[in-house]
Amino acid sequence: MSKAVTRLALIGYGNVARALARLLRRQHAKFPFRITGIHTARHGTAVAARGVPVDPVFGPAAASIDEFLDAAQADIAVELTTLNPATGEPAISHIRAALARRMHVVTANKGPIAHAYADLRDMAARQGVEFRFESTVMDGAPVFNLVRYNLPGATVLGFTGALNSTSKLVIETMERGGSFEDGLALARSLGVTEADASFDVEGWDSAAKTAALANVLMDARTTPQAVSTRGIARLTPERIAELGRAGKTVRLISRARRGAGGITLRVRAEVLEKTDVLASVGGTSNVLLLHTDLMGTIGTVSISPGVEQTAYGVFGDLVDVTRG
Ligand SMILES: NC(=O)c1ccc[n+]([C@@H]2O[C@H](COP(=O)([O-])OP(=O)(O)OC[C@H]3O[C@@H](n4cnc5c(N)ncnc54)[C@H](OP(=O)(O)O)[C@@H]3O)[C@@H](O)[C@H]2O)c1
Repeated sequence: MSKAVTRLALIGYGNVARALARLLRRQHAKFPFRITGIHTARHGTAVAARGVPVDPVFGPAAASIDEFLDAAQADIAVELTTLNPATGEPAISHIRAALARRMHVVTANKGPIAHAYADLRDMAARQGVEFRFESTVMDGAPVFNLVRYNLPGATVLGFTGALNSTSKLVIETMERGGSFEDGLALARSLGVTEADASFDVEGWDSAAKTAALANVLMDARTTPQAVSTRGIARLTPERIAELGRAGKTVRLISRARRGAGGITLRVRAEVLEKTDVLASVGGTSNVLLLHTDLMGTIGTVSISPGVEQTAYGVFGDLVDVTRG
């Protein structure tokens, strides 16, 4: 990347944004990004043309996203606010406001990708700027960039993925003799559940990831609500034990398929052989298989990703954007 400083406006300063700020500080000599503004919901806003430190002193919150972006004077807006899986807002409006100012946008928030991807992609193209979102599915593991850079000329016909960590932790806890609630408590303690854990166990997290993947990789123009979804809420330790004796387990599986009648999208708790590649990773690890016309099926696996990997996915997008 060129050594010119690239200015960043961070919208949201929670776990991911703070991990990103630490990563940017460590990499500063090689990658001269400068955070010129941070805007949050309750902590307030910090703006400094010469750079906002990792532990900023926040002033009063900017009155609007427009006021914040005008003050921050950044090259790239980084949207890292809380996921709203039902509507994708206010992140969609944040991204539109940044694109309207001809700022590039990088986000880890899958709401906008699951609800408004085609609109935002087209707006970015009209404005002549980049819109990137690698960390929205499988944290920093390459999914969207894998297709963008490594599958030129191929069409994604569908995908199959075990993408929800909470459900895996619940199932594994029951396999060890614990209860559903024990599993949920473990997932909470590891910080992998969404703010409302029912999003995970009822399948809405997987539905949002399925919609996001389908929108980007298959131009599905869908929403999480249109994904046929059933979660793991009715699974019991008894059923899991019975399946275990037969060498089987359960995973919450996202499936997409392009057929004659269009694209079908569904999320189900599926019974799998324990040796199935989709069941072969546990805990917070995820696996995604992409089914293509020219390259058959290939996959990507993330092993025990944490917030550092999510932050890396955002960082990788930032580096890529600055390369032009
Ligand atoms: N955590 C992960 O490992 C992970 C992995 C992949 C993707 N993601 C996605 O990354 C995003 C950030 O996750 P996180 O774990 O960092 O969330 P978080 O810790 O809950 O932080 C969210 C931040 O957004 C701010 N915020 C909320 N609503 C806002 C609004 N209307 N305007 C301005 N700021 C607002 C909050 O402000 P206050 O600080 O004032 O409350 C907070 O700073 C989410 O969309 C999440 O789904 C996270």
